[in-house]
Amino acid sequence: MSERIAIYPGSFDPITFGHLDIVRRAVRCFDHVRVAVAFNKDKPSGLFTPEERVAMLEEVTAEHGDHVTVDSFYGLLTDYAARVGATTIIRGLRAVADFDYEFQMALMNRHLASDLETVFLMADNEYLYTSASLVKEVAHFGGDVSGHVPETVAMKLAEKMKERK
Ligand code: PNS
Repeated sequence: MSERIAIYPGSFDPITFGHLDIVRRAVRCFDHVRVAVAFNKDKPSGLFTPEERVAMLEEVTAEHGDHVTVDSFYGLLTDYAARVGATTIIRGLRAVADFDYEFQMALMNRHLASDLETVFLMADNEYLYTSASLVKEVAHFGGDVSGHVPETVAMKLAEKMKERK
């Protein structure tokens, strides 16, 4: 049987413990997981550059060795999936609030590539309210984000916030 490759796409601006928990769960289900940072060079957005996000992801997923590759892509996720031979898209679900957006994306991706399956994984309860946007807001006002992001990411957030002031 051929290798089952899954993509875990996202903005990862920055990677949180919730994302990392999904990576850990995905590794148990698939032969290979590609964590892929989506970027839009026509309309750059976010706090960290795609390169900075990839570097942080590489550092905090290193424990998975060859099972995980970190990458970035521009354009449609379905095109990227075809290029790398992935059969599955992984998305994390926290609460019902995530559902509408995720449902729409999954159906649009199915419309674009009918043989590409979206699989939802649930992060641990502990991370139900962890979100990259909230982490950035808390870090902006000097709050403690240590329970939500790895230490190296917390340090990079603090540096970024200092640069911006
Ligand atoms: O972490 P996010 O921001 O919720 O991730 C959203 C992401 C990056 C998975 C989604 O915006 C995406 O797949 N972007 C790539 C462009 C694309 O294929 N858009 C159509 C999605 S239906």
